[in-house]
Formats: sequence, structure tokens, C-alpha cells
Amino acid sequence: MKTMIIAAHPDLRQSRANRMLALALEPYTDIHVRDLYSEYPDWQIDVEKEQQALLQYDRIVFQFPFYWYSCTPLLKKWFDDVLTYGWAFGPGGDHLSGKEFMVATTTGGTEGGYRSGGDNWFTLSELLRPIQSTITRCNGTYLPAFVMYDADRGTDDYIAREAGRYAEHVRASHERLTSSVI
Ligand SMILES: Cc1cc2nc3c(=O)[nH]c(=O)nc-3n(C[C@H](O)[C@H](O)[C@H](O)COP(=O)(O)O)c2cc1C
Repeated sequence: MKTMIIAAHPDLRQSRANRMLALALEPYTDIHVRDLYSEYPDWQIDVEKEQQALLQYDRIVFQFPFYWYSCTPLLKKWFDDVLTYGWAFGPGGDHLSGKEFMVATTTGGTEGGYRSGGDNWFTLSELLRPIQSTITRCNGTYLPAFVMYDADRGTDDYIAREAGRYAEHVRASHERLTSSVI
């Protein structure tokens, strides 16, 4: 299983949570981690290069800090630019069929706040539905997301444990991720 991580943090090197998540994947030779903001400082995404890259991998992970209940803006632009009509969806747009996609995000909010009645009202699964719908429209398989809650207040130990859990989640089989026991 070849996996590509598209990390989309505006400043990954200065980040705490997302940097630790990316570091946790370094030992795995079949996982390729990319830093989207440093690859495209001018935001001019090379669509052909990105589409070719997608073809090389079985699983693609979008890793980002949760910003205003959504992904970071360069990743949104990446979706807009790369998932084109006739390539990713629509007639002839079957290049992503059979590929697995996953979101990995870090939040400032606590898990308890992300529920109906909580201070963020909705669950992460609910808030990630636009990305789930995008992937589904493009014939990809959308896997359960990895979420690290409370990323700003969490201790270094907590972040390290969550990074370990991330490495397991990214490498887990489709069957394990979608079974109710994980
Ligand atoms: C512009 C901006 C918007 C944010 N929006 C949210 C949000 O909607 N929900 C939330 O839980 N945290 C939000 N946060 C907190 C970040 O998600 C949190 O700082 C980040 O996940 C920590 O990861 P890092 O250490 O890799 O930067 C926001 C932070 C910024 C800077």
C-alpha cells in the first residue's frame, strides 16, 4: 500500500501538532509526506504534477489544522484546481476510482465540544461532509478521519501519544478502519 500525505499547514515547521504528526510517519518508507504550503509558496498549483502524483498512490491523506470548521485555504484551492471535470469526475473522470482517501486534522476545540449541545454544535464527521462529498463525487473511497482534539492545550506527552495513534490509523487496513471496534 503506497500512501501520500498532503500536509497543508501554513507553517508546518513552526507547528506543534501537525509537525509531530508528520514526524511520526518518517520511519515508514511506503508513506510519502508532502508539505503543500512550502511546495507552492505562490499558490500556483501544478495540476498535471498533482494528478500524476495521485495516480502513483493507493491511499491519500489530507492532513491539516482545522481552521474555521474547514480545511486550510491552500488545500481548498488544491481541490478546486486538481479535481477537474473529465479527470476526477464527470465523463471520463474515473482516475480516482478505487483509491482511498482520509482526512487527518487537529483541532483547538475539545472532543466534548464537538457534539450536538456542545460549544461547537456538530461532530467532526458532520463538519467534514463537504470533503467526504467531494471524494465520493470523485469515485474515491472515503475512510474514517483521524482527529487530534485539544491540540493547543495538549501536553507534549499527549501530542506524542496522538502522533503514535496517527501512524497506526494511517497504516490500518480499510477493514480495520471501518469496523466498529477501532
Ligand atoms: C485561523 C484559525 C482558525 C481556527 N479555527 C478553528 C476551528 O474552527 N475549530 C477548532 O477547533 N480550532 C480552530 N483553530 C485552532 C487550530 O485548529 C489549532 O491551533 C491547530 O489545530 C493546532 O495545530 P498546529 O500545532 O499544528 O498548528 C483555528 C486556528 C486558526 C489560526
